[in-house]
Amino acid sequence: METYKGCVKPQGNFLFPSLLFLLALLAIANAETHHHKFVVQETPMTRLCKTHNIITVNGQLPGPTLKVRNGDTLVVKVLNSARYNVTIHWHGIRQMRTPWADGPEYVTQCPIKPGATYTYRFTIENQEGTLWWHAHSRWLRATVYGALIIYPKLGTTYPFPKPKHEIPILLGEWWNRDPISVLRQALFTGAAPNVSDAYTINGQPGDLYPCKGAVRFPVKSGETILLRIINAALNQQLFFSVANHRLTVVEADAAYTKPFTTSTLMLGPAQTTNVLLMADQTPGRYYMAARAYASAQNAPFDNTTTTAILEYKSARKGAPSRPTLPRLPAYNDTATVRAFTAQIKSPSKVDVPTKIDENLFFTIGLGFVNCTPGPRCQGPNNTRFAASMNNISFVLPRKTSLLQAYYQNIPGVFTTDFPAVPPIKFNYTGNVSRGLWQPRFGTKLYKLKFGSRVQIVLQDTAIFTTEDHPIHLHGYHFYVVGQGTGNFNARRDTASFNLIDPPQRNTIDVPVGGWAVIRFVADNPGVWMFHCHIDTHLSWGLAMSFLVENGVGKLQSVEPPPADLPPC
Ligand code: C2O
Repeated sequence: METYKGCVKPQGNFLFPSLLFLLALLAIANAETHHHKFVVQETPMTRLCKTHNIITVNGQLPGPTLKVRNGDTLVVKVLNSARYNVTIHWHGIRQMRTPWADGPEYVTQCPIKPGATYTYRFTIENQEGTLWWHAHSRWLRATVYGALIIYPKLGTTYPFPKPKHEIPILLGEWWNRDPISVLRQALFTGAAPNVSDAYTINGQPGDLYPCKGAVRFPVKSGETILLRIINAALNQQLFFSVANHRLTVVEADAAYTKPFTTSTLMLGPAQTTNVLLMADQTPGRYYMAARAYASAQNAPFDNTTTTAILEYKSARKGAPSRPTLPRLPAYNDTATVRAFTAQIKSPSKVDVPTKIDENLFFTIGLGFVNCTPGPRCQGPNNTRFAASMNNISFVLPRKTSLLQAYYQNIPGVFTTDFPAVPPIKFNYTGNVSRGLWQPRFGTKLYKLKFGSRVQIVLQDTAIFTTEDHPIHLHGYHFYVVGQGTGNFNARRDTASFNLIDPPQRNTIDVPVGGWAVIRFVADNPGVWMFHCHIDTHLSWGLAMSFLVENGVGKLQSVEPPPADLPPC
């Protein structure tokens, strides 16, 4: 794993050097290019007393942590030595003009076949904080994921005192079965997939499962530690807490926040949160723990608890005492989630679009397809599960990717008639009549002009059950200007939007039985997936894609595809 200084040297004429100009040059001169090799491979791992072969990157679970600075370039050569097709997505990276490096299979690229390679090359532009990378191919991200940490540019720092130490905390989900076969079975039968057997912290379930073994994090009394928490679980929102310690939230989804202190966090799948922890308690051992926030009624979920140990170095001698467990909220404690989420705000006034060119309204939720009883019809009451946005259940192409079809003008791969509003208006969060439960299937995109100012109302539906959905937009971050319960009411709810200091995110957990409104400027051309980050729902079609057209000139246009882009 080599890292070398970029070869960009300051040049040009220095007739009128201003300090800013010099600083900018310095920053460019300091930008580095980091080369990494990811070998996707089968690796034996023992968890919950059993050894399985799982798919990993470089034999590690979690995979390697990538550390870069804002402005740096990453070059990651992926070699697929496993038996499944794979792609890697750099979750939250904006990929300005480089959608070819984004990763979702059949959206921006065809998958990397067994034995093949593909090199992801992209530059971090104006981003810093905690992000992560994961496979974006069926359910491979269950074990193929890792942290991607972006430090401030040299000479700049965090908007808070620099902590002495930092610990990446990756929350994951573990199945005793091969996750791909769990998915295959569900897609065959039409029933809901099996829930996981454990949650993990940095790859280990911890002490509350058979065959204990919790990760330990040594800390020194009096130190402040930055925890970079990533919810890499496949299908579950998670509460997180550390016994006896308060946590000060300073960043979410790689955007700084107004600091606030809390004892419990909730992260939707794919969300990240940075917190400061002061090691100011009686020297000893304390559990950090995570377990489900399960908002769907009567739906099965993994109700186990994963733990790791915060261990004061001064307390290491002598017989280890049993660590204290934190108190976590009840599984269905939506009130705690609401109170926590309401506190996440940008540090100061931000530039939210106020004039809107594209006013979109998307319903999000489950659906069912009627079927004739049989092995392939195992959903509730002779149905197969599906999911949709605006009643369209998203179907991926197979012969090429959406981005290639767009870039090379290949007809017949997608249409651009994704509906801007639901095809039928109904009481979304009330008692939805059965006639509205069946979605249509399609590969429909929504076209956005470069630079258009977009608002999307995301409205949960009560089809089958209301549920909290973590919705992620590729290639962008957005402002969350409003959230609420029930049906969105433009006249009533627009007045309460926060257009001053709303949080900036790449994944918004839309409240159960409620709505969220996001805004962004379409300044990044390409094809960008917009989907629920619960992989079960994604596999059922809770997705769509935006096609953002080029603007004027090179700086507003998609770059040409790399020569090694995998063929389908
Ligand atoms: Cu974290 Cu479509 O991805």
